[in-house]
Amino acid sequence: MFIINSNKCIGCGLCVKDCFQKEIEIIENKAYIKNESCIKCGHCVAVCPENAVFTDEYNMMDVNEYSKNNFDISEDNLLNFIKFRRSTRQFKNKDVSEQMIMKIIEAGRFTQTGSNLQEVSYIVVKDDLHKLKELALKSLKTMGEYILGDGNITDALIKRYANLWVKMYDLYLENPEKNDRLFFNAPVVIIVTANSDVNGALASSNMELMTNAMGLGTFFSGFLVSLGVKEGHKIATCMVIGYPDVKYKRTAPRKKADIIWK
Ligand SMILES: Cc1cc2nc3c(=O)[nH]c(=O)nc-3n(C[C@H](O)[C@H](O)[C@H](O)COP(=O)(O)O)c2cc1C
Repeated sequence: MFIINSNKCIGCGLCVKDCFQKEIEIIENKAYIKNESCIKCGHCVAVCPENAVFTDEYNMMDVNEYSKNNFDISEDNLLNFIKFRRSTRQFKNKDVSEQMIMKIIEAGRFTQTGSNLQEVSYIVVKDDLHKLKELALKSLKTMGEYILGDGNITDALIKRYANLWVKMYDLYLENPEKNDRLFFNAPVVIIVTANSDVNGALASSNMELMTNAMGLGTFFSGFLVSLGVKEGHKIATCMVIGYPDVKYKRTAPRKKADIIWK
């Protein structure tokens, strides 16, 4: 529940104006939250000039006061940071600490979700990475063989991937260190699951930026996602993470933006 401390509230109405669910009203110069259709977005906490709003459902220690020094980033630097991001597929033989993994997940946790559902979850695979790799490569091979054997599947890209998946497992068995075409010997994988693909992808995108900010590299493994998981868990992305063993000197070129102005 979200609660207003009436001793602190000055009845300015800023929370009323910013509450898109129209859950707050001013009664006798004090704001009052009805808590009927509140989606717990926390805008009332964030906007209050008197810090008079709190909740007993989330950790209020997570809430940070704004300061220009700690929160602002220039538009040019932000754009350059986005442009300079690359998928990393060359990793050092170096562990990623639990502290760093938690910071990456923190970037996902604070990403917006539709209706503020916050239903994104994270499976961190470190110790069992070899088991996951073996299982995934085996399953991809089976899927590849099935696709190649099915005369009805004619899509050239799918067939190319199917051919690759069939080869990937055999090559891996020949030399697991040299031929890991699935995780490229990265030390950690985070599988992001969510009911909504959009929510999962948005969280993952912020997590990717965080890995880069920490000097780590990542790529999204679409191959693993294509295998899926058990019922009730929908994989949004699979992030393969480690210290990059490659240095980029410049950004990569891209297609022109396809824009319609109306
Ligand atoms: C949804 C998605 C799935 C991807 N799957 C794979 C994958 O399975 N294996 C891989 O090596 N790279 C994968 N990538 C990385 C893309 O190939 C890469 O983003 C693209 O070539 C552009 O390169 P850049 O990320 O360095 O800009 C994936 C990227 C996305 C967004």
